[in-house]
Amino acid sequence: MKTILITGGAGFIGANLVRRVLALQPEWRVVNLDALTYAGDLARLADVADDPRYAFERVELADRAAVAALFRRRPIDVVFHLAAESHVDRSILEPALFIQSNVLGTQNLLDAARDAKVERFLHVSTDEVYGALGPTGRFTESTPLSPNSPYSASKAAADLLVRAACATFGFPAVITRCSNNYGPWQFPEKLVPLMICNALDQKPLPVYGDGQQVRDWIHVDDHCDGMLAAAERGRIGEIYNLGGDCERPNLEIVESVLRILGRDGSSIRHVADRPGHDRRYAIDASKAKAELAWAPRRRLDEGLRETVRWYQEHGEWVARVRSGAYRDYYERQYGGRLRSPVRPEGARP
Ligand code: NAD
Ligand code: TYD
Repeated sequence: MKTILITGGAGFIGANLVRRVLALQPEWRVVNLDALTYAGDLARLADVADDPRYAFERVELADRAAVAALFRRRPIDVVFHLAAESHVDRSILEPALFIQSNVLGTQNLLDAARDAKVERFLHVSTDEVYGALGPTGRFTESTPLSPNSPYSASKAAADLLVRAACATFGFPAVITRCSNNYGPWQFPEKLVPLMICNALDQKPLPVYGDGQQVRDWIHVDDHCDGMLAAAERGRIGEIYNLGGDCERPNLEIVESVLRILGRDGSSIRHVADRPGHDRRYAIDASKAKAELAWAPRRRLDEGLRETVRWYQEHGEWVARVRSGAYRDYYERQYGGRLRSPVRPEGARP
């Protein structure tokens, strides 16, 4: 039996990873470390809560003593580090929080994992650390770091701390940098679930600027398989880009959601752009494909259809997570923007 620690296991990607590991690896025990911020919710794991191979530990990564105590309490063989403040718009509203969780939290975890002599540490990062691309080209692992948001800057800082631990202490870490995930249980602040949930509620769909910003989309299951492959077959000290080979402008994603729901585009509102908005991301994942024997398998059209259906069937969860503090966030982020929509350059009146 191996014991793996998944940080951020109560979040969107973490919960999908916990469930996938329990299903695919009968010889693994999973400890889920999570502080349960606004983004963390154990309801995502209600179906595995009683599995004897699963345990939950409520720990705040910025609390160094609590992180060290967890590693003394539980023998851990492998760490998958996903816990982070993950939303760009919130990082613009409150940057300092991102340094606490993503930078200080990562260093505390690295130190405790090194003391505990873990065999492997998978650090889960993002393509956003590379900054923005023009109309052509793709990020490779040697693209210089050039983050533009407080979120991506905090993730780049964490990547560099992991790199330093490998170089200085021979720490056995591998880094993955993945593109935009979609799928079940994503918090409805990110593009795909926000548009699905607003459309289901007949609310306006706030598209930043002209909506021609491009992201590469990957189903969360493909990302989970990429993390597992990197932990198992990745070379220590190496970085692996993971992507879905699926670049789309935001507006096309929003229109696809509306098409699946049988709606026209009349609820789309172009609103003031995100400051520092990266125009285009695109991932070259050929290194991961060659070295990890991994490739994304899910098609966007079918994955998006399934995701829309999932939100239709989980209205109770959506209503719960969109009550309370979410309303304050929504008003702060979108209230003014939706009251004064913009007309993107070149658009017909
Ligand atoms: P999420 O916001 O849904 O979940 C984050 C989880 O981390 C939550 O459960 C939260 O409670 C927990 N957490 C946050 N701060 C913590 C702290 N200080 N201590 C302990 N727990 C804390 O995020 P997600 O979308 O599932 O992303 C998971 C990871 O994957 C992040 O590291 C993110 O940078 C990375 N990533 C995400 C995407 C994406 O498209 N969502 C793409 C590439 C990489
Ligand atoms: P998001 O899901 O926040 O992911 P990220 O910023 O990490 O890529 O946003 C994806 C894209 O969608 C990004 O270009 C911003 C845009 N977007 C909107 O146009 N409107 C919205 O309400 C949101 C949340 C995002």
